[in-house]
Amino acid sequence: MSEAVSENGLQGGGRARLWRARLAQRRARLRKPLPLVVEGRLTRLVGLTLEAVGCRAAVGERCLIRGAGEHMVEAEVVGFAGEKTYLMPTTDMRGLLPNAAVIPAGASAALLAGPALLGRVLDGAGRPLDGGPPLTGGQPLSLTPPPVNPLERAPIREPLDVGIRAINALLTIGRGQRLGLFAGSGVGKSVLLGMMTRYTEADVTVVGLVGERGREVKEFTDNILGRAGMSRAVVVATPADMPPLMRLHGAMLATSIAEYFRDQGLKVLLLMDSLTRFAQAQREIALAIGEPPATRGYPPSVFARLPQLVERAGNGPPGRGSITALYTVLTEGDDPQDPVADAARAILDGHIVLSRELADAGHYPAIDIESSVSRVMNDVTGDDQQALARRFKALYATYRANRDLFSVGAYRRGGDPVLDEAVDYHPRLTAFLQQGIQEKVTLAQSRQALGALFEDAAQDGGPAAARAAAQGSTRDGARSGAGA
Ligand SMILES: Nc1ncnc2c1ncn2[C@@H]1O[C@H](COP(=O)(O)OP(=O)(O)OP(=O)(O)O)[C@@H](O)[C@H]1O
Ligand SMILES: [Mg+2]
Repeated sequence: MSEAVSENGLQGGGRARLWRARLAQRRARLRKPLPLVVEGRLTRLVGLTLEAVGCRAAVGERCLIRGAGEHMVEAEVVGFAGEKTYLMPTTDMRGLLPNAAVIPAGASAALLAGPALLGRVLDGAGRPLDGGPPLTGGQPLSLTPPPVNPLERAPIREPLDVGIRAINALLTIGRGQRLGLFAGSGVGKSVLLGMMTRYTEADVTVVGLVGERGREVKEFTDNILGRAGMSRAVVVATPADMPPLMRLHGAMLATSIAEYFRDQGLKVLLLMDSLTRFAQAQREIALAIGEPPATRGYPPSVFARLPQLVERAGNGPPGRGSITALYTVLTEGDDPQDPVADAARAILDGHIVLSRELADAGHYPAIDIESSVSRVMNDVTGDDQQALARRFKALYATYRANRDLFSVGAYRRGGDPVLDEAVDYHPRLTAFLQQGIQEKVTLAQSRQALGALFEDAAQDGGPAAARAAAQGSTRDGARSGAGA
């Protein structure tokens, strides 16, 4: 490198000037270091993992790989071992050749968030999928922002109307809660998520469609959100045929967009279909770069990633915005012990379990009231509603526990008054739990219907125990507690 200032023939003050000039040069260079791009070489490609040597790029950085005919394949650094750098493609990999040049291209361009996001459909990298103009201007979004201090979060105190009677009355949700919809495939998660999207009041709705069918993206934007819904919604779609890294980024980007709107003081509804596909994308990546599998093929990093994603939703500081999040979770093979479902249940603030048995019987939404829990219900509802909900669940559980008696004809009225009461109530309880896809039931209507369920029964002169129920809630509570 040549020195711009020469020392030759200088003395005294001249020398001092020279040193000052040199110092200024060095300072300027330190402030703006020359970008050092060290190209690497592609040595191996197995499945979805690319291995390169000689490449100087940090984890999370983007690289361009020169394929046949100057076609560039984009990839991201996901790990390294010794001299080797592991990359995952974020675009189609066709056209790659051995020894292709791997050119570091710096950090991925951040999505610029602003009000212009509303009404848009994006992919996992924040590129428009709707044919609209590119997003310019706004605040750059990080996919991995620093976590919120848990002590600064406002507690969940306000009930949220989701428009579903069974949930509003028996599993009341709070604003800022993170809830999972758990079920095997085809039991009705997406339909219930769609209903809740349409009926829940929110300033902004952010939808992450991660690893599910491509067909469902258009269905969600056109049929579920519609033109009016889309005007205050952002959809991030990374369907099943996208590379795993894109699916992973899709879920993270949707969460980042929700955080952006929350920080503007807005009430955000974040919907993710599905959390399981997010976990599976991480599994694909981790296994491909050599992480050992632990539970059911899922490597440990999957169970670290899940809370990192889910913990980002929730309330902001008091007086600021909130993110209420709904995640669908696939219980593979209808196994409630599915490791992702198990991990999700432990980190979410509630789970709504859908039952295949109910769906098969045409009972929709197929919510299994006995297995579902909203962990904030007691904070957002009054004692009356809680007592009625406990009573409902106790009656329902008693009937379900004794189903075998009915099928073998062993049930005799008068043998057990608690069971007789459960039998009398059962048709009403079942009707209460069912709801048409196009039917919206508000929180107030749901509470009223829950109260009326028992009042009506008493007035009808129906079940003897129902008459007793109207006389005092203390006894109700005791009996419900025993039956639950
Ligand atoms: N509330 C409902 N009323 C009537 N039919 C329903 C209802 N919910 C679901 N279904 C039926 O069940 C089918 C599957 O539902 P959905 O797509 O929501 O399942 P899913 O749990 O999301 O499945 P997957 O895990 O495969 O995505 C629907 O196509 C519809 O026929
Ligand atoms: Mg679905």
